[in-house]
Amino acid sequence: MIRILGIIGSPRIGGNTELFVAEALKATEGDDVETELLRLANREVKPCDACLSCKQTGECRIKDDFKPIFDKMVAADGIILSSPVYFGSATPQIKSLIDRAGYLSVARKRVFENKVGGPMVVARRAGHNFTLAQLLFFFLHQGMIVPGSSYWNIAFGREKDEVTKDEEGLLTAKNFGKKMVWLIKKIKETG
Ligand SMILES: Cc1cc2nc3c(=O)[nH]c(=O)nc-3n(C[C@H](O)[C@H](O)[C@H](O)COP(=O)(O)O)c2cc1C
Repeated sequence: MIRILGIIGSPRIGGNTELFVAEALKATEGDDVETELLRLANREVKPCDACLSCKQTGECRIKDDFKPIFDKMVAADGIILSSPVYFGSATPQIKSLIDRAGYLSVARKRVFENKVGGPMVVARRAGHNFTLAQLLFFFLHQGMIVPGSSYWNIAFGREKDEVTKDEEGLLTAKNFGKKMVWLIKKIKETG
């Protein structure tokens, strides 16, 4: 069984980022694939406060919704991190998760090593590339493997649902989803 987790870094439920990632997840579906779309919108992940106690305990001491999300990330074979562009940047919601998951992973001897994953970004007009790079830094830092698609994983949209008019964006999402599954299967085959 292959598990793919799509994490939505938008505070807007049912928004463009969610629809964009859902398109990728839909393309991964098959008999042996289990997908989950996880919204940060209805969860609280506070920022890392640099206490560094995770280095000693292997746990994050901040009390909020982080732990179950981290556990799902650890259990997944493939992870998508997504965000709308907010003032040229990723949202605070996804950034908090990146900081805490990244640090805790390192404290636990790099639990995301060799997992497959990638970033997905939506914006009305500008800031895709920078935000895509922000999210990409997580995957590369963690020793994860990032497949490509038919374009970079970006889409355009402002009002809810507008992203569904971006045909090339949706095709990119679909091809990215398929490439994730292809790569995960190859990695599992070779052990
Ligand atoms: C606070 C805020 C800042 C934004 N900043 C940008 C921006 O810098 N560039 C841009 O193209 N769109 C910007 N947008 C538009 C969103 O990226 C766009 O509406 C996107 O579709 C939202 O995704 P969602 O529906 O998943 O929340 C901003 C929206 C908000 C609410």
